[in-house]
Amino acid sequence: MSEQARVPEKTVTLRVNGQTTTVCAMADTPLLLVLRNDLQLNGPKYGCGLGECGACTVIIDGVAARACVFPLSGAEGREITTLEGIGTREHPHPVQQAFIDEQAAQCGYCMNGMIMTAKALLDRNPHPSEAQIRNELSANLCRCGTHIEILRAVLRAARQTS
Ligand code: FES
Repeated sequence: MSEQARVPEKTVTLRVNGQTTTVCAMADTPLLLVLRNDLQLNGPKYGCGLGECGACTVIIDGVAARACVFPLSGAEGREITTLEGIGTREHPHPVQQAFIDEQAAQCGYCMNGMIMTAKALLDRNPHPSEAQIRNELSANLCRCGTHIEILRAVLRAARQTS
């Protein structure tokens, strides 16, 4: 690529997990790469890179979003939450604890995206029906086939917020 064809980098201020941070990258860089490579937030996973699997799910302004196809330029000024922003090993978020209690992971690669999608759902609807949970998580893929345990985990998390 010639120098002239290069897209210039720009400085972007992000709000991630309640902290303000500045990164320098090309505007169309996928948010996922910035989170993982620049900010060392590895909760969002790289799965398909095409917006199809949900492994990279983060919450942006309260809505679950695919960070692999979300351009950095669109993230400026938005409130971004990654898995690291909702709980810790010592103090897991209720959704994380429910996934542990229901043993809702096999290989675990999809789990972070599932948890973030479930959290976004429960934040706006604390008591979803089973059908609503299934519908919400239908675009998050689990190749191990632990969807039933994942469903149970989200139902458990919903009960615990009663
Ligand atoms: Fe983003 Fe698959 S890695 S949807």
